[in-house]
Amino acid sequence: MLETGQAPPLTSGPRKPVNPLLRRKPVEQMVAEGGQGEGGNLRRSLTMWQLTMISIGATLGTGIFVVLGEAAPKAGPAVTISFVIAGLTALFSALSYAELAGSVPVSGSSYSYSYVTMGEFIAWICGWCLVLEYAVSVSAVAVGWGQYLNELLDGTIGVTLPEKLSAAPLGEGGWINLPSLVVVLLAMVFLLRGAKESARINTIMVVVKIVTLVLFIGIGVMGIKSGNYAPLAPLGVTGISAAASTLFFSYIGFDAASTAGEEAKNPKKDLPRAIMLSLGIVTVLYCLVAFVAVGALPWKDFEGTEAALAQIMTNVTGDSFWGVVLAAGAVVAIASVVFAVLYGQTRILFAMSRDGLVPKIFAKVDAKTGAPRANVVIVSLFCGALAAFIPLGELANATSIGTLFAFALVNIAVVILRRTKPDMPRTFKVALFPVTPILGFLACGYMMYSLPVATWVAFGVWMAVGLVVYFLYGIRRSRLATAEVATAEK
Ligand code: ALA
Repeated sequence: MLETGQAPPLTSGPRKPVNPLLRRKPVEQMVAEGGQGEGGNLRRSLTMWQLTMISIGATLGTGIFVVLGEAAPKAGPAVTISFVIAGLTALFSALSYAELAGSVPVSGSSYSYSYVTMGEFIAWICGWCLVLEYAVSVSAVAVGWGQYLNELLDGTIGVTLPEKLSAAPLGEGGWINLPSLVVVLLAMVFLLRGAKESARINTIMVVVKIVTLVLFIGIGVMGIKSGNYAPLAPLGVTGISAAASTLFFSYIGFDAASTAGEEAKNPKKDLPRAIMLSLGIVTVLYCLVAFVAVGALPWKDFEGTEAALAQIMTNVTGDSFWGVVLAAGAVVAIASVVFAVLYGQTRILFAMSRDGLVPKIFAKVDAKTGAPRANVVIVSLFCGALAAFIPLGELANATSIGTLFAFALVNIAVVILRRTKPDMPRTFKVALFPVTPILGFLACGYMMYSLPVATWVAFGVWMAVGLVVYFLYGIRRSRLATAEVATAEK
C-alpha cells in the first residue's frame, strides 16, 4: 500500500504497448500524487464546511436571482416543482460525484475520474468540457454580474456606467465590458492568496447570499396571496419540464468541492459530505424562494420584470430600500460564483498539467502561499479578456451541454470503477447501484438532447478545437506517454 504523497513509479518493468487513447492512470498513482505540483505542493487546509461553502459558492447565483424570472412564465406557479425536478436530476449525478470524490480525492474532478476509468482520451474530452463548465461560464457569469451591478447603481445612486464601458467591442458596439473584467480580476487577487484565504473570503460571500435569500423568504412570505397559486400549472407538464431544463443551470456548481480534493484536510470523508450537503442546502433554498416568489407576484408578471426578487421585496415592504438590499445581495452572490468557479478551473488545470496534458506552468505552486499562482493569473486573464471583449453568445449556452457531458461521464465512471476495483475502500456509496448512475446518465443525455441545435453546433466546434489541441500537444506530452517512451528506450 502506498503512503499518501508517495507517488509510485510510472513504469514498473516492461509494459505491453497500450493504445495511447486508452492508456489509463492507475487509481493508486492518481491518489498518491495528490497535492504534488511543480516546485511545491498544494496545502491541505480546507474543512468540510469550507468545502461545502465552495460548492454553494459556485452554485447559488444567477440561477435563482435571474433565471427564476425567465422560468416562472414557462411553468407558472408550478415553477417550484420544476426546481425539484432539476434538483433530482442533479442529485443522481451528485451521488456519483460523491462516491468518486471519496475514492479518488484529487483536484481534477471528473477529468481525473475519467482518466482512471476510461483512459486518457475520454479524460481529455472531459477536461475540455470542464473548461466550458468552468472558464467559459466564469466569463458568462461575469458579464451577467456587470448587468446586475449597473441595475444596482441605477437603483441606488441613479448612475449607470456608460454603454461603451459596459459592452464588448465585437458585435456589441462597446469598447470594453469593464465591470466583468473587474470582477474577474478581483477574484484573481483573492485567489492568489492561497486556498485557506480564498476559502475564508468565499465563506463570507456565501453567508451574505444565504442571508439575502432567507431575508427574501421572510419578507416575501408576507406578500403571498393564495390566488396567485391557481391554476398551479397553467402550461401543463410541458411547461414544468421546459422550466426544469432552464433551471438545471442553477444547480451547476455543486461539483466544485471535487476540485478541492488536494487541499482538503480529510478529503475521503469530507468531499462526499460537502457535495451532498451543498446540494441539499441549495435545493431547499431554491424551492422556498420560488414558492414565495410566485406566491407574492402573479406568474405572468415575471415576464419582462428584470430583477423580479428585488421587485417583490419593494412591493411587499412598500420601500425600495429592501429592493436595493436584495440587489446588493445578488451582486455579492454572482461575484461569489465567479470566484468559486474560477478556483475550480485553476485546480482542474493543475491536475491536467501534472499529467502532462497541458503545459507545466499550470502545476507550478508558489512555495509561500501554496497557490498555483501562475495558473491563477493565466486563467483569470483569459476569462477576464473573454468577458471583456467577446460576446459569448452560443458559447455561453454551450456551458450547459459541456457540463451535462461531464456529469454523464461521471455516472459511467462510477459504474466502471465498481467493476474494476470492487474492493477499493469507499467512504460513500451511491444508493441503489447501478440504477442511480444509469438514471443519472439518462437524465443528462435527455437534457443534452433537449438543447437547441445552435448549442450543439457550438459544442461541436468547441470539441473539434479540443481534439486538435490533444493530437498536437497532449498525446505526446502526456506523462504516461513519456513514461512509455522511457520504458521502450531501456
Ligand atoms: N449555478 C450557477 C449560477 O446559477 C452557475 O449562477
